[in-house]
Amino acid sequence: MRILFATACLLSLLSAAAVLQADDLEGRPRPVKAAARGVGALVPDLTFEDLAGKAGRLSEFRDRKALVIAFTNAGCPVCKRYGPKLARMARTWAERDVAFLLVNPTPHEDVKVVRAAIDAHGLEARYVLDTDGRFAQALAGRTTAECFVLDASRTLRYRGAIDDQYGVGYALERATQPYLERALEAVVAGLRPEIEATTAPGCTLEVRRAKPDGRAVTWHEHVQRIVQARCQDCHREGENGPFALMTYADAKGNAPMIAYVVRERLMPPWFASDESLAMLSDHSLTARERSLLLRWVETGTPEGDPKDAPLPRTFTKGWKIGKPDAVLQIPKAFRVPAEGTVKYQYSTVSTDFAEDRWIQAFEIRPTAPQAVHHVLVFVRYPKDHPRAHEQPRPRGGVEGYFAAMVPGQSAFRFPAGTARFLPKGAQLRFQIHYTTNGQEAVDQTRIGFVFTKDGRPQHEMRSTGIYNLRLRIPAGKAHHVEQASRMLPIKARIHGFTPHMHVRGKAFHYEAVLPDGTRKTLLDIPRYDFNWQLHYRLAEPLELPAGTRIRCTAVYDNSAGNPANPNPNKTVRWGNQTWEEMLIGYVDWHPVK
Ligand code: HEC
Repeated sequence: MRILFATACLLSLLSAAAVLQADDLEGRPRPVKAAARGVGALVPDLTFEDLAGKAGRLSEFRDRKALVIAFTNAGCPVCKRYGPKLARMARTWAERDVAFLLVNPTPHEDVKVVRAAIDAHGLEARYVLDTDGRFAQALAGRTTAECFVLDASRTLRYRGAIDDQYGVGYALERATQPYLERALEAVVAGLRPEIEATTAPGCTLEVRRAKPDGRAVTWHEHVQRIVQARCQDCHREGENGPFALMTYADAKGNAPMIAYVVRERLMPPWFASDESLAMLSDHSLTARERSLLLRWVETGTPEGDPKDAPLPRTFTKGWKIGKPDAVLQIPKAFRVPAEGTVKYQYSTVSTDFAEDRWIQAFEIRPTAPQAVHHVLVFVRYPKDHPRAHEQPRPRGGVEGYFAAMVPGQSAFRFPAGTARFLPKGAQLRFQIHYTTNGQEAVDQTRIGFVFTKDGRPQHEMRSTGIYNLRLRIPAGKAHHVEQASRMLPIKARIHGFTPHMHVRGKAFHYEAVLPDGTRKTLLDIPRYDFNWQLHYRLAEPLELPAGTRIRCTAVYDNSAGNPANPNPNKTVRWGNQTWEEMLIGYVDWHPVK
């Protein structure tokens, strides 16, 4: 009986927590997983009547560059503080063809009070009282201060806070993160915002999840949006996905195989679990997206109504980093055979810049992209360089990690105020993994650089490997654990991770052990795949105090049950070759005062 009672209490607490959205109210707004909050999906063509009595519907904004649906009300202190800013933003963005629709998701408020707030804040945009909760429900709105950005096709492009100036129990003199402005800049330019969802501290709303409406899953309404967001970075001409997934015909033609890779979670290649911190360029499918894709295939791949289609994605032709300040190329072209496997190819490029350089952005461009699986670039300082003693000594191929290209991630721009150091006279060593695909190809990979405009940045971005040269993986063992760790001697801001093992790698985990002993998961990869040397970049850099230990835990499968294992009868130790092993957890970071 007592046990039963305790369980009942716990259950009611849990459901109360779900309704209260406590996490969404805590602290400053922070990036959250966008797909799980419906970003990328079609918003239904909601009809409404505004406070002036004028009827409307969302599709009437389709000739605008974007529509901002801003939740607000008269009573929530956060909404009150944001009122004047919302009025200013609606006015300035109107000049750039962006419409604002103000929606009050708390219909209990007295209309007189609402009108007084509108006058006090100078809000001129159309204002809707969401009396039957259709906006809150269709958007699964979480707080009274949440904003939603829709593009011309009514695809949800951003949801979250206006910025970080006000929250529950705090106010700053000015905002430091203009989330909504940045999202609008991107959407107006036809691009995907870098940060697509944040929490939006305000007053909490009960989540009213959109009910499944029983309609068919179609290409135009659902699947095309998912494929654009999760597949087209790689599956289009000039990228290394084996076929294009751009049109209805492309997707229909590959439907059975799409269902297979989605069900088996082989595609998209993304291996971080939900335990990990939020990452940029997360291609992974949500449970809902996965079930939509599968249902679409099972129900015979219906095309649907072209009126529901998203805007086509625009892709940059040529260099994604813009015109490079310098381009270097490996000295000799490599002929990739049509069949078989190819050993890693190494090439050294000497730089001949007149002085030290600070790299703001780089991009690695193979000349035969369909034959290049990944490229790693290491830097070697010249012996007589004044900073030569700072060059991390190469130990077992670990140190000096400089740049990388993996499928879907060929260009990299360092966050504002940070840059990578390239010493005068340095050499760049390329490691290139070629894959065969039935056709001979000739490749001469290049790297392009954009330098900082004003020399040395505020912070030098470093990549440090946390490694364990003494690893020893017994023959035949299916689950062997090794660890490596490193202490931060100074306070640091962490930007990203690249875990590295070879073909026996099975799982990888990064955690921070804070000076007080608290442990925090940074990146968790339950199923590591050697074929994908992915880089995981934090949606929001993480500051860790001096004395924090970053610990990497790696699991290996040296049994015959691992299909990639070349020899389960051999004890495996550290080595450069893929039949030997490594345990390196690269961390991108810089010191902070
Ligand atoms: C990061 C790049 C990337 C993304 C994102 C991506 N793919 Fe792939 N995909 C590839 C590459 C590269 C291959 C070829 C793999 C190989 O050669 O082993 C591939 C192979 C495939 C295959 C063929 C599998 C096989 O072994 O024959 C299918 C089907 C597929 N992808 C579907 C998808 C779908 C559907 C999505 C989106 C939901 C997607 N991919 C997202 C890069 C990507």
